[in-house]
Amino acid sequence: MPFTWKEIKKPYVILAPMAGYTDSSFRQLVKEIAPPVLCITELISADGIAYEGVKTMEMLKFDESERPHILQLFGKNLDHFKEAVQIAEDLGFDGIDINMGCPAKKVVNSMHGSALIKIPELAFQIVETCAKNTKLPLSVKTRLGWEDDSTLFDFAKGLEAAGAQMITIHGRTTKQAFMGKADWEPIYRVKKNLSIPVTGNGDIMSGKDAKDKLENLDGVMVGRGTFGNPWLMGEVCVALGISKPNEVIARPTEFEELKKWMLRHCELSVEVHGQKKGMLDIRKHFATYIKGFPNASKYRSELVRVESIEEVKKILNNI
Ligand SMILES: Cc1cc2nc3c(=O)[nH]c(=O)nc-3n(C[C@H](O)[C@H](O)[C@H](O)COP(=O)(O)O)c2cc1C
Repeated sequence: MPFTWKEIKKPYVILAPMAGYTDSSFRQLVKEIAPPVLCITELISADGIAYEGVKTMEMLKFDESERPHILQLFGKNLDHFKEAVQIAEDLGFDGIDINMGCPAKKVVNSMHGSALIKIPELAFQIVETCAKNTKLPLSVKTRLGWEDDSTLFDFAKGLEAAGAQMITIHGRTTKQAFMGKADWEPIYRVKKNLSIPVTGNGDIMSGKDAKDKLENLDGVMVGRGTFGNPWLMGEVCVALGISKPNEVIARPTEFEELKKWMLRHCELSVEVHGQKKGMLDIRKHFATYIKGFPNASKYRSELVRVESIEEVKKILNNI
């Protein structure tokens, strides 16, 4: 499928890559709820792909329903990026996103993720290397800066010049990690000076938030608001006018309906990862789906031990 950021209908509504959450099962679920949403894999190591590590290759599996399928890479080794984009192309990915925003200590200490904000020459070389070695469209996900937004303009301009075709900016600095409120103002300013599309990210919890924050940007990316509420993606599509209300699935108002979706998510998790890992992975999602329920802690303690879909059904039937 031909895919370029300029051809995709705007505003983009993108499910944020979230390690440990947005695996293929969650992405498939979101696409069933809101088909226009664009999904990106969790961050995946370019080194791991270049070495064809078993666990890494497992993370690259995807379903056709997720297309356009975008791979998020992190790393710093140019040769490994070169190999990783070629492998991604062979595996049928539609796009590459490069992580220059992850603030996790172990990522930053290896000079990966948002550490690249402090080494802009290497960041630009990574984009150039990828651009030279793949036909796939390249995007970069980054933050306002390391401790303030003073470097954002030059960094974004440099990424554009190196071959990035879209940039997503999370409105926090690396130092902030996830603290404080996301500041979208610097994102609006940088957008005025770039010719490539710019997507904003940070603290969208409702369709109204997305509408209020979009301003001059080309799209929004939504992350934590989807925990226990994947229907938020449909709400955002409707609020931004890329879907009609009857083209997405609304958040269930009845428990019976919610139950159906929880079981669907569980089924997809087992399909993607097999029984053992699938059931292990789904447990944290169950906790988010039932947050705020009367007696939630009782059910949560049962749901975080489940080993089969049958067990899940039994617990849910008792709620
Ligand atoms: C559990 C978790 C895992 C994340 N993993 C990634 C990741 O793999 N790649 C990435 O670029 N950002 C990652 N992020 C950051 C999100 O993509 C997003 O930028 C951030 O959560 C802010 O958006 P939000 O306020 O809508 O959640 C992660 C965030 C969370 C909470």
